[in-house]
Amino acid sequence: MSAKPPYLTGHYTPVADEITATDLTVEGTLPPELTGRLIRNSHNPKPGITPTHWFKGSGMVHGIRLRDGRAEWYRNRWVHTPALDGAPYLTEHGPDLTASTAGTHVIEHGGRLLALSEAALPFELTPGLETVGAFDWEGKLTTAMTAHPKEDPATGELHFFASSPLPPYLVHHVSSADGKELRSQEVPGATAALKHDFALTERYVVFLEGSVTFDPAEHSGIPYGWSDTQPSRIGVMPRGAGGAARVRWFDVAPGYAMHLANAYEDADGRIVVEGPSVGRQGWQRSWNWWVGAPDRGAEPNSGAYATRWTVDLATGRVAEERTDDLVVEFPTINDARTGQHHRYQYALSFPDDLGIGNHALVKYDRSTGARRLRPFGTGQLPSEAVFVEAADGGGAEDAGYLLTVVSDLNTDASRLLVVDASDLATVATVHLPRRVPAMIHGSWIPDAALAG
Ligand SMILES: [Fe+2]
Repeated sequence: MSAKPPYLTGHYTPVADEITATDLTVEGTLPPELTGRLIRNSHNPKPGITPTHWFKGSGMVHGIRLRDGRAEWYRNRWVHTPALDGAPYLTEHGPDLTASTAGTHVIEHGGRLLALSEAALPFELTPGLETVGAFDWEGKLTTAMTAHPKEDPATGELHFFASSPLPPYLVHHVSSADGKELRSQEVPGATAALKHDFALTERYVVFLEGSVTFDPAEHSGIPYGWSDTQPSRIGVMPRGAGGAARVRWFDVAPGYAMHLANAYEDADGRIVVEGPSVGRQGWQRSWNWWVGAPDRGAEPNSGAYATRWTVDLATGRVAEERTDDLVVEFPTINDARTGQHHRYQYALSFPDDLGIGNHALVKYDRSTGARRLRPFGTGQLPSEAVFVEAADGGGAEDAGYLLTVVSDLNTDASRLLVVDASDLATVATVHLPRRVPAMIHGSWIPDAALAG
């Protein structure tokens, strides 16, 4: 049996080296406000290494530098953590929080670029994507950090959490907008359930515990698995000092939501939470793809459907509904709406299960219920759509651009596609000098953010 696991083949085939290319070819017109960097992260093990789990592959960031209508460069760099050189995560003293794959996400906070992986400390990068080192708020952060922090658009504060299979199971952190101060509180009542993402509303922090929890018998290197006895719950914690002591946990139907699109408080004070959610079979088929086991889906995401939970704090009841019939993942919004009512949501749809044939970019209009699709052809896989506001949009929620990197197996190449978020039409295409491996997360980092 020498067949490669699915996460080392096709769109997911790692690249073997670090390159820099300048003066990229642009078709169409890049809006001048796109002056900054699109940086994406993916698992890209070194040549010759076959990780036991997709998520165990070393992180590699790919950056595309745009300025004043030009595409100045593309470059890709491994995140040079001790784990890249083989340092083990588990040591006789416990986890080494610097032995990170750093391969899940990359964000800007307080003028720093940070590569993230949820079991470890963030790793700081230079604007040229070279690795600076682990960042721990000058010793204030003593836990791991989720790969899905949330910036409060009103204050610039960064909320994040640490989830652990051992106590303390859940710690909530808030970093000041300048990235210098850190406030931390342990959240009571949490369990060892896997927590990958979370959400903010104006007054609350929203945690999710699904049916996937710590499983020491799982030997892929990531010790989690579905459990029919692990309750699925939504935790609602008041923001601010002392909030953790007032957290409430609400039971929901068994399931697992890897990512959340957003959460907000509606006019009646109920908390609306949205994100794709899987059941037992969808989880197992996805997991089997991630570890290269039999009985896997054709895609890394199987059976995740857009789901809405509405938590009534007064009655303690939670209403749950599936809001669409497409298999989707990678939900995104205009981040200026984080924690507030959002009209538009974007996602990627996956071809298995419903069989629409190809991957597609999806736009949901929650006011009208309309769904717009932009399908991609055979052999083409778009990445998570990152929204960037247009300079002249007048504040309309979908006045802006979606940036997606398309992996094209037909030509063994990739392109950055800039589409109009209002109608999903192409605005510009930047041709990249190599095929960029698919998936995981990334951010648009405007120059103003890095200027501090
Ligand atoms: Fe994620």
